[in-house]
Amino acid sequence: MRSHARKALVLATTGLLAATGVVALSGTAHAASTLGESAAAKGRYFGTAVAANHLGEAPYAATLNAEFTSVTPENEMKWDALEASRGSFTYGAADQILAHAQGRGMKVRGHTLVWHSQLPSWVGTLAASDLRTAMNNHITQVMRHYQGKIHSWDVVNEAFQDGSSGARRSSPFQDKLGSGFIEEAFRTARATDPAAKLCYNDYNTDGVNAKSNAVYAMVKDFKQRGVPIDCVGFQSHFNSQSPVPADYQQNLQRFADLGVDVQITELDIEGSGSSQATSYANAVKACLAVSRCTGITVWGVTDKYSWRSGGTPLLFDGNYAKKPAYDSVLAALGGTSGGGGGTRTCSVSYAKQEEWGDRYNGKVTVTAGSSAISGWNVRVTIASVQEISATWNGTPSWDGTGKVMTMTPNGNGSLAAGGTTSFGFTVMTHGNTAPPTVGACTAS
Ligand code: XIL
Repeated sequence: MRSHARKALVLATTGLLAATGVVALSGTAHAASTLGESAAAKGRYFGTAVAANHLGEAPYAATLNAEFTSVTPENEMKWDALEASRGSFTYGAADQILAHAQGRGMKVRGHTLVWHSQLPSWVGTLAASDLRTAMNNHITQVMRHYQGKIHSWDVVNEAFQDGSSGARRSSPFQDKLGSGFIEEAFRTARATDPAAKLCYNDYNTDGVNAKSNAVYAMVKDFKQRGVPIDCVGFQSHFNSQSPVPADYQQNLQRFADLGVDVQITELDIEGSGSSQATSYANAVKACLAVSRCTGITVWGVTDKYSWRSGGTPLLFDGNYAKKPAYDSVLAALGGTSGGGGGTRTCSVSYAKQEEWGDRYNGKVTVTAGSSAISGWNVRVTIASVQEISATWNGTPSWDGTGKVMTMTPNGNGSLAAGGTTSFGFTVMTHGNTAPPTVGACTAS
């Protein structure tokens, strides 16, 4: 009896309750601060690439709406999407993203007017003077359609070669119009929508290297000659071969010192766990350290729809659970840490199922709180004469007595906000039909 009383006290102080029939236990929900809010407190936007065809997926839209203050259409404003055949413009999908953003006070980055990729083949067949007309017409038509609605336009994307040459990349524009196509595109863009910030955007230009030196020289020349340019976008697609450069901040700063804003435009970092989280935090800190770094865009909401989904490079996993990288970005932005901050919660309920002369089945339902979670565990304690003879839909571990089972998920334990899962077990009663004691749910 003494030991029983002591046990009851321990159970009470750890928040365990005897399960009689159905009980529900839950942790405390805290007001979560978001990426967008915490970036705004630092005077910056926090955006994501968005695909129009996912906007109808409830957790996709919920995550987008909760966390981000800017969107970039991932493909919908590219030349092949807007002007697949010459002179015929289709704005449906791009307009859908714009409407979603405008209705919620999000900024929109326009991506992209002149690019060698996702370019319809008809463009490449044109002779020089016709190509010039087509390029300027494309810029003019598209920017007019979106006049006053786009925060920043990527006027020219990826015009430089990789490697040490510092040369312009071969493209119909470069090959037929020469390097002057870039400044022509910027001049046409400024004349069309003077309110939009005009950016040059590229990748492998994140650190100081031959390619970024070439872009730097171009921007410097533009500023000296009065060619309109307001910003430089750094795509920032990182992985182990191409990590966040040690001189990222220094590189952003030297561009800013030319008198342009800088933006991180397509951030994604392949990897997982704490190493991915550290890289993300470093990238965010680099932007925050540069006063003209006006915003950060990650290249997608969830790993499952990433253009490099195999590398799980984003902040939310395929179930929209916040990854460690999310927590580290939020912390770097000065927001409330999700990890220890209690934003991840779950609750459990217990119900008895089938019952026989010698045994019964129990079922525990786990429900995520108002934030997505990436894992959970629940402790189930049985009476000393009882035994658990089977479990399903979970991975149990046991204390030395065999009477305390800690259940964790089978495989991926992610649950969307409000999402549920359940596990079950058979209790051999050995004459004691008491229900198990089900502990509170712990979320991670
Ligand atoms: C990618 C999109 O994410 C993919 O869906 C598409 O198939 C190819 O383009 N640099 C850019 C982006 O500027 O437009 C690219 O987006 C990724 C690299």
